[in-house]
Amino acid sequence: MTHRIAVIGGDGIGPEVTAEAVATLSAAAPGRFSFVELPYGADYTLASGVTIPPDEFARLPVDHDAILLGALGDPRIPDMRHAKDILLGARMRFDLYINLRPARLITPDLCPLRRPYETGGIDLVIFRENTEGLYVNIGGSLRPGTPDEVASNQMIATWRGTERIIREAFAYARRNGRRNVCMASKHNAITWAHGVWERAFRHVRADFPEIEATSLYADTAAMELVRAPERFDVIVASNFIGDILSDVAAQVAGGIGLAPSGNIHPGRFGLFEPVHGSAPDIAGTGRANPLAAILSAAMMARFLGEAHAADAIERAVERAILDGDTPADLGGSLTTGQTGAAVRRRLGA
Ligand code: NAD
Ligand code: IPM
Ligand code: MN
Repeated sequence: MTHRIAVIGGDGIGPEVTAEAVATLSAAAPGRFSFVELPYGADYTLASGVTIPPDEFARLPVDHDAILLGALGDPRIPDMRHAKDILLGARMRFDLYINLRPARLITPDLCPLRRPYETGGIDLVIFRENTEGLYVNIGGSLRPGTPDEVASNQMIATWRGTERIIREAFAYARRNGRRNVCMASKHNAITWAHGVWERAFRHVRADFPEIEATSLYADTAAMELVRAPERFDVIVASNFIGDILSDVAAQVAGGIGLAPSGNIHPGRFGLFEPVHGSAPDIAGTGRANPLAAILSAAMMARFLGEAHAADAIERAVERAILDGDTPADLGGSLTTGQTGAAVRRRLGA
């Protein structure tokens, strides 16, 4: 049986890095994956006036086992309506409530800070709540475009949605021998919504007595991620806070060109994509680092039960980096395609 993957390259460097991820996955596990390229992105939206046909969108989890996405974002669509429909749409509509974002430092040279490697390195995983918070798009604006404009976005925290992501974070820690789960919230300021986070955290941690539980204010967590990233193990946070913390974590572990992510509903469906965006500033130059996309494909393989292929890809990426076969953002001189090829050469080695 092959895993049916919908590939949405998207905009900017999205298609460039996704092509390398597809080629690498095909090489790591020949015949295990079949790919269908879907054309959705800024060009499609501008040409057709439609972001994604609603019936096509609804069929994604029916016709496919997972989605591999590059990036969405184009200066010609400043309101990002295509990303709202496709990326945020998939997260919400398919209830992909876990946004899993690991940050692991492969070699000290890649860290802008020197100390963490000496004190245990960086190997953390962020569980970002993916279906609630400030991203529900409930709100509106009154008298837009006038000096009297009033705009609001509501933050939502349901007990069910908060409890399940915190429980997944603890269960992941237990399964993977991780010591600590840290919740980052702002319950000191965002009293009601983040009060739910604080209470749900206390409720769930009682079921995992062997796991150390820490609650930090989100601003402190951001500061600590820079000061002492090695102290973190599993981080769980609401949608907006998880978005910001995952970019900070990506930077201290080698940069945005290396950070993969999975949008997951366990046992049901997943969408895998790099943490970075469409990088219009370097699109078409061959300078995009495809490793975040390749590592996202490895996460997808693991989600689909192909742990062997996932391990092989992760090891090959690690070896390419340690050998100095890297693109410009990691200090090397390889193009997007050469970086992908450098990884594929090391598969099975
Ligand atoms: P970005 O991540 O696209 O780029 C930020 C910086 O990082 C740029 O200097 C870029 O050149 C660099 N960079 C990013 N990915 C890289 C890679 N693989 N290799 C080398 N360098 C890389 O963020 P931005 O500039 O704030 O956003 C650009 C567009 O992407 C916007 O439209 C934004 O909304 C969108 N975006 C989409 C996603 C997504 O689809 N998941 C995520 C973030 C941003
Ligand atoms: C991400 C991105 C998206 C987000 C944007 C493009 C809406 O930054 O996947 O991290 O905020 O979730
Ligand atoms: Mn982001």
